[in-house]
Amino acid sequence: MNENQFEQTLVLIKPDALKNSITGFIFSQLSEFHTGARFAAAKVVNVSRLLAEEHYAEHIGKPFFEALLEYIMGKVHYSEENKWKRRVIAIVYQGDGVLDRIRALAGPTNPHKAREERPGCIRALGTVVNLKDKDGNDIGDRLDNLIHTSASIEEAEREIKLWFVPNDIPPMMRAYPTEICQRHYYYKDGHLVDNYETGSTLLLAPGDLVWKSDLEILQSCDSKGCKTGRLNTVAAKYLINRENI
Ligand code: RTP
Ligand code: MG
Repeated sequence: MNENQFEQTLVLIKPDALKNSITGFIFSQLSEFHTGARFAAAKVVNVSRLLAEEHYAEHIGKPFFEALLEYIMGKVHYSEENKWKRRVIAIVYQGDGVLDRIRALAGPTNPHKAREERPGCIRALGTVVNLKDKDGNDIGDRLDNLIHTSASIEEAEREIKLWFVPNDIPPMMRAYPTEICQRHYYYKDGHLVDNYETGSTLLLAPGDLVWKSDLEILQSCDSKGCKTGRLNTVAAKYLINRENI
């Protein structure tokens, strides 16, 4: 297999796309026939705040951050009564040039710009919602743009590792190094704990296959924190769909 065929991208079909039943349209646009992109993995995810914060870490502190979290968590498009429908579809696509091809089909981030500059792109079907602070002042827009696509090779690697464990991806389609875990890792309230205790969750057990970089983060953690990355980046993925959010 040619090395470029290992190029991968993370696509998220966001809650507004699910609500408006354009999932089929998006799958069709992104199909191998149009993009050369093959499915490497797919899952339906009820997005936790932890996962949302990790995914959009680069936007922490921006005025629209809270609205962005609520949007990707499905809270904007599904009321409390329908909260069981809050989800996104996460897909790993693989193939030569998939990052740029899929980003081009998605179009500009802002749906107004998308309609103007690239009519027919996926995000041209999106919505822009003006946001106000508690005093009624304009604080920018929430861009309901239907689809997420990774922006670069580095971003794709970070995002694919954030949403998927190695075993979600067929062995010959995995693009990043893996390792076998040698011990138990339990997680509770933002920290690792050594043994099972009430309220803790088992992230990994001996024999589990794990992204090498995730294991390095876990191994670098002590009571003061983790030296090679953020614990929540690893934990968020192992908590996916584990309990009602
Ligand atoms: P995405 O990550 O979702 O594929 O979008 P992108 O690369 O085109 O844009 P990015 O800058 O990564 O932003 C991620 C998401 O945050 C929301 N956003 N709102 N109001 C604003 O100025 C603004 N900027 C970004 C959008 O929902 C965007 O998709
Ligand atoms: Mg982005």
